[in-house]
Amino acid sequence: MFEIKLIKHQDVTDQDIKEVINLKSKQWSFSLDNQMHWIKNNIKNSDFHILLLLDKKSVAYLNLIDIELIVNGINRKGLGVGNVCAIEKGKGYGFELMKEANKIITNLNKIGFLFCKEPLLNFYNSLDWEELEPKNYNVRGNNFKVMIFNIKYDNEFLIEYDGIIF
Ligand SMILES: CC(C)(COP(=O)(O)OP(=O)(O)OC[C@H]1O[C@@H](n2cnc3c(N)ncnc32)[C@H](O)[C@@H]1OP(=O)(O)O)[C@@H](O)C(=O)NCCC(=O)NCCS
Repeated sequence: MFEIKLIKHQDVTDQDIKEVINLKSKQWSFSLDNQMHWIKNNIKNSDFHILLLLDKKSVAYLNLIDIELIVNGINRKGLGVGNVCAIEKGKGYGFELMKEANKIITNLNKIGFLFCKEPLLNFYNSLDWEELEPKNYNVRGNNFKVMIFNIKYDNEFLIEYDGIIF
């Protein structure tokens, strides 16, 4: 049975961090030190870690980063989805976890924002995320695709973000 573990970074334990790094290591080959460093330098106390557990074992992970966006000239609060990974690909774990991220973003009435590579567009599309055209966003030094969730956009839409790439 699936369960969700939602941890605000300010409450994270060493054991939680170990679980997170363990999961990330299944998909990215950064050293333990490097991963610790990344978390220390990039995750703020107001950010969230979300783990998907299957029969009490962590099978997928993502983080939700508390971000400031400017949408059509107005400051808005967003949640950036990053570090999405599954212990094993293609088992539905990523999908299940992202559904939870969507719920949180919707319930908190924030704008979902993420960067991804071309092959993952379909994955996020199937979860109601929309790809933005380059003319609809302004992000510093980024060559990824940009996707949004929980906000309508039209031709004139412009979203601006100048924080870290997560
Ligand atoms: C991306 C990731 C988290 C998706 O989780 P997952 O558990 O493998 O995905 P699911 O099994 O829930 O797949 C859901 C659907 O998305 C599709 N999908 C998943 N990953 C895909 C990929 N890399 N390319 C294309 N389609 C993909 C699946 O085929 C599936 O579609 P289907 O139901 O029609 O078969 C996982 O593949 C992963 O850990 N990838 C490596 C890390 C990474 O690149 N993370 C993304 C950072 S933005």
